[in-house]
Amino acid sequence: MELKFDANQDYQLQAIEAVTDLFTGQPRIQADLKFSLGHSSFAAVANRLDLDETELLANLHTVQRRNNITPDPDTGIGKWSVEEIADYLGTGNKPDGDVAGGLMGEVIDGTLAGYKDMSKADRLAIAQYLKTIPPVRNKIGK
Ligand code: HEM
Repeated sequence: MELKFDANQDYQLQAIEAVTDLFTGQPRIQADLKFSLGHSSFAAVANRLDLDETELLANLHTVQRRNNITPDPDTGIGKWSVEEIADYLGTGNKPDGDVAGGLMGEVIDGTLAGYKDMSKADRLAIAQYLKTIPPVRNKIGK
C-alpha cells in the first residue's frame, strides 16, 4: 500500500492513521526485492497479512470508537437530532454553527457528486441508523 499525503495537514494524518491503525500488530516487512525501470527503481513485497479476522475487527472497533459518531451525548453525537445529522450530511453545517472541515467537508461536497447530493430521505435514513448503534463513551481529556 502506498499513501501519498501532505504531512502538514492534520486531517490527512488522521485519515492515514484511521487506515494504518487497522493493521496494528502486523509486523513490518522489509523489502528484499528491488526492480529498476529506466532511471527509477522500486521495492516490492509480497502481499502478506498475519492478523486474523478477530484482530482486524478489534482494530476496526478501536478506530471507530476514537472517531465517535455513536449516540453518546458527551463524546459522541448524541445531542444532535436526526434532522441535524441529516442536515450536516447535506450542507456540512453543524448544530453549533461550525462547518465540516477536512475530509468530511470533501466527502460532503464531493467532486462529481458528494453526500450533499443524496436525497433527504437517504440522509435521514443514515441519521436514523446512527441513532440505533450503542453509545460509546470515550475518555475525556486524554
Ligand atoms: C455516511 C458516512 C459518514 C457519516 C454519517 C459521517 C458523519 C460525521 C459526523 C456526524 C461528523 C461530525 C462529528 C462532530 O463534529 O462531532 C463527522 C466528522 C468527520 N468526518 Fe465523517 N461521516 C461519514 C463519512 C466520512 C468519510 C468517508 C470520511 C473520510 C473520508 C469522514 C471524515 C470525517 C472527518 C475528517 C471529520 C471531522 C471534520 C471536522 O473536523 O470538521 N467522514 N462525520
